[in-house]
Amino acid sequence: MNENRQVLFRVFELIDRYCDLSKEASDSQVVDPLPPELLKNRLDLSISENGTTYDNLLELVESYLASCVNTTHRQFFNQLYAGMNLPAFIGEIITALTNTSMYTYEVAPAASLIEMELIDKMCSIVGFDNGEGTFLTGGSNANLMAMFSARNRAFPEVKQKGMRNIDVLTVFASDQSHYSFDTGANLLGIGSDNIRKIRSDKLGRMIPEALEEAIDKSIKAGEKPVLVAATSGTTMLGAFDPIDEIASIAEKYDIWLHVDGAFGGSVVLCDKGKKLLKGLESADSFTWDPHKLMNIPLMCSALLVKKKGTLASNLTTLDTKYIFHENDTRFYDLGKSSIQCGRRVDVLKLWLAWKYFGDKGYKRRMEKLFSLAGYATRKVESDSRLELLVPPQSIAVCFRYINENGEDTDEFNLALREGLMKSGKSLVNYGYLGKKVAIRFVAANPDVDYGDIDQFFNNLFYVAEQIDKIGIEGLRD
Ligand SMILES: Cc1ncc(COP(=O)(O)O)c(C=O)c1O
Repeated sequence: MNENRQVLFRVFELIDRYCDLSKEASDSQVVDPLPPELLKNRLDLSISENGTTYDNLLELVESYLASCVNTTHRQFFNQLYAGMNLPAFIGEIITALTNTSMYTYEVAPAASLIEMELIDKMCSIVGFDNGEGTFLTGGSNANLMAMFSARNRAFPEVKQKGMRNIDVLTVFASDQSHYSFDTGANLLGIGSDNIRKIRSDKLGRMIPEALEEAIDKSIKAGEKPVLVAATSGTTMLGAFDPIDEIASIAEKYDIWLHVDGAFGGSVVLCDKGKKLLKGLESADSFTWDPHKLMNIPLMCSALLVKKKGTLASNLTTLDTKYIFHENDTRFYDLGKSSIQCGRRVDVLKLWLAWKYFGDKGYKRRMEKLFSLAGYATRKVESDSRLELLVPPQSIAVCFRYINENGEDTDEFNLALREGLMKSGKSLVNYGYLGKKVAIRFVAANPDVDYGDIDQFFNNLFYVAEQIDKIGIEGLRD
């Protein structure tokens, strides 16, 4: 075997060991948390003048893998994505292997057709019969593109003239919405102060009456509302805003309605999820991140738009003849509706995974997520040591530990989460609900079982009991 092939085989052995495709290494750590100074020593970061050997390179890969948070691990509940999706992983490797860019059919013939096919499929699932879309680098950027489209629909002249003669533009999103709207407002010259944060109810859903009040107030103040953003799956609570009620208000005031389904959008693939997204077909655009609940490796995000032609018409027409040629395949040049020039083939991994699991497979995977979250919720509800902070609408379960050692409960929960991370046994994130620290358990990996969730709570209780005994400071020593 020649050296290159040997290297590749060794890489695949490392991959196999790392992601534990055989699911045998259940005693492995999800994370080996090291402070930056220690990690720097482990990683041998500097670049040498003379390069190195493949043997050394593979040692570096091993130490890199040992330092990574293993997001494929069955105890990783930290983020809105998790797990290992083998068909998608194959797609990721083939994308790197074939290294091309999505701008023209000429250099990405098969990928362009695959992207068109999946955009059509996704549009038809969400009810955009005359829709279009594009893959882009994340849900935040999909939200940005939606805001850009809304701004330019309301004020097409901004494209050439800029914002100089434009009224104050306003955007409406719930107080639970993702921070990407604030960033988007900043980038687009709308200004983050002009995002009106609409009150949400106890479950974290936007209150439609509060939305209408805010729009009315904005109009009376002489401002120009350009976008209402509903969220399907809020980042902390996994809450779903009532799209149909919000859509009626957006229609009444002729405002672009965007639905941010970056986190929860994928649940539209099962019946329960479809109900949560009721009214989606009335939206003007929809963010959908397959890299979250469809378990496609990052990045894999799409923006779907209801009306064909919107994306290209928003872009500035430039002299791009050096790249977009007037040939027979020009209608397949997807770069004309993207703000990127070079663009990775992110669709191949999604296509392979969807081919492999099929619609039914993905439906079952979404149902499994709901069932795992339901199981975790019941565990919290039935244990007097835990408090469920908000009844979950979907797959994020926010709770806290009720300590009885006299220490502050928020401090205790922060220490508990950190202690659990330092144990390396389970990883879960936290955020704030009001002023309360909330541990947020996310069921994003349908390949885990109830037993893994039992294990998670056992690991959590073990650390909590330790803190109960030795106190927060004791744990930090
Ligand atoms: C509701 C919501 N919208 C948008 C985003 C941003 O998505 P991305 O991380 O793909 O940029 C997130 C990420 O967590 C999210 O939860």
